[in-house]
Amino acid sequence: MSAKLLGTEDFDGLTRAEPSLPAGWYFDPDWYRKELESIHYGSWIYVCHGSVLKPKDFQRIAIGDQDIIVLRDERGELRAFHNTCRHRGSALCREAAGNFPNRLIRCPYHQWAYALDGRLVATTSHVQAPDFDKADYPLLPASVCEWRGCVFVSLADNPPPIEVGFARGSDRIGNWPLEDLVVGHTWRKTMQCNWKVFWENFNECLHCPNIHPELCETVPIYGRRISYYRDEPGWTEHVDDPDPKFRGGLRAGAETWSMDGQALRHRFAGLSEEEVRRGQSYIVNLPSVFIAAHVDYMRSVRILPLGPESTEVVAEWLFLPEAIADNEFDLDNITRFAIRVMEQDGDASELNQQGMHARDFKQGVLMPEEHYVKIFQDWVRERMA
Ligand code: FES
Ligand SMILES: [Fe+2]
Repeated sequence: MSAKLLGTEDFDGLTRAEPSLPAGWYFDPDWYRKELESIHYGSWIYVCHGSVLKPKDFQRIAIGDQDIIVLRDERGELRAFHNTCRHRGSALCREAAGNFPNRLIRCPYHQWAYALDGRLVATTSHVQAPDFDKADYPLLPASVCEWRGCVFVSLADNPPPIEVGFARGSDRIGNWPLEDLVVGHTWRKTMQCNWKVFWENFNECLHCPNIHPELCETVPIYGRRISYYRDEPGWTEHVDDPDPKFRGGLRAGAETWSMDGQALRHRFAGLSEEEVRRGQSYIVNLPSVFIAAHVDYMRSVRILPLGPESTEVVAEWLFLPEAIADNEFDLDNITRFAIRVMEQDGDASELNQQGMHARDFKQGVLMPEEHYVKIFQDWVRERMA
């Protein structure tokens, strides 16, 4: 997939003014329902890193108005069910996460009980009608899969292969031991913007110098409103310039995304020199998650719509177990940096959302640096066609 239109070999940017998506796509409730059906209910949706789910643990996830329980059963197998009792439809779990110590999911209303594989194992009635068979009333399943230690669910009848969601190659983080990591911190925030606004913001750095002063100090090329050296025409003039302002990568002395730029003592062993120099690598699985990879930790960011103008962002920081066990482990130094960046992006996204309601604003226009926004918007257009 390429956004290059009239471009030459040496420039990745857009070379003509491209219309952004129609303004109504960002707030119209009918359009939002259509997007849920065509995009979110038909895709794999990131739930959490699998290390969070020990046997008998569950996490709930809302995909649009669908409330799903994702659990690991006593044998270690992942399962997903609608949070709905087959008796008269009560919700089964009230908590966002927890566990089933007795290996039973018990409905809080009339106390039907289900095994962790979804089978109805007990009702509370004195007698059963002769034509009632418990086998006819298992929990309603959803698809679940684990990709490199990451748990995804899908409401589709026949979900596409998980790889389909990776718009940018998932092999970019092939050298990172994602499946061996554990979650050291989780952060969540509800943002008053459409889910696409947050994704579009993620896909460009035109906003970076004014919105993210600290980030631009750490990643100097962002301070020039681009994320990659080929985003500016004439980059070949600087091709031998080691200055990270042109070449990308972190400022001199910085090793990772942290408040002081210092990385943890325990770093990932298998990275190439270029991956270390680059300072950050990303993969994206649309529509729900991106994962950032640094020399010493990874961070997943899950983006889920709560409504036409409301989006939940959940970030997990993933570490080697020995890094967390290290007595010099400084979680705050790591997490505070990206939280600041995500707060800044959230504010910008809310501002963007607010302005799009002008009656005479039909749609925006994309500038050359916004070629990844174009790719994202084309992805949305294709699914909504
Ligand atoms: S609705 Fe669940 S037991 Fe009645
Ligand atoms: Fe940003």
